[in-house]
Amino acid sequence: TETLDLSGNRILVSAGGTTEKLDPVRFLTNRSSGKMGVAIANVATLAGGQVTLVQTNHAVGLPVLPGIKVITVESAQELYDQMHAQVADQDIVIMSAAVSDYRAANQADQKMKKNQFSSDEGGLTLNLVENPDILASLPKEGHYTVGFAAETQDVIAYAEQKLVKKGADMIVANDVSDQTIGFNSDENQVTLVTTEGAITLERQSKIGVAANILAAVQEHKK
Ligand code: C5P
Repeated sequence: TETLDLSGNRILVSAGGTTEKLDPVRFLTNRSSGKMGVAIANVATLAGGQVTLVQTNHAVGLPVLPGIKVITVESAQELYDQMHAQVADQDIVIMSAAVSDYRAANQADQKMKKNQFSSDEGGLTLNLVENPDILASLPKEGHYTVGFAAETQDVIAYAEQKLVKKGADMIVANDVSDQTIGFNSDENQVTLVTTEGAITLERQSKIGVAANILAAVQEHKK
């Protein structure tokens, strides 16, 4: 096998779960730790790449190698803005962040009081609006684009659909029904899906998965 050598490449990576504020003290989020995306950023740097990491607040505190340009965001909208601001002149774009599909329709400026917004029955209905699909919205010309897909069933079939729908060159699919891998774990098992087919990697550390993803990108990008 060929050595991983990303010298001369600019790589943009997103990592971590986004957070959507409801009011100054409450928020909606997900369990994504950012470990997979940070591992990709670190391995890409070690392989000689020039890396920009757009990480969410979930990933803050994970060790990031010197030389990586780090931008920290919180919400899906901030992530959208930064990905679009950084995408020009990139050679590889890897969207591993777990983006909130919805945000609060209205963010309260003050702490929401109990009963203030509740219905006659005493329950509370939150109004949510859809966030943009960042991966789908990014320009695709001039760089190789990688997306992720966390699924609990029909992993490869859904990944193939996402490849087309989001215009990515590769989807890294993982089965999150197995709680010992994926979100927040140090290990992962993934299948790399491209138009040329699907390759399932062995279960291994996220560092190992990162190296395999980048090697596959290097190979396919030619
Ligand atoms: O559709 P789904 O959320 O499963 O797609 C996952 C892929 O799409 C990931 O690469 C994720 O970063 C990206 N995504 C995005 N913007 C969204 C939702 C997902 O970029 N609003």
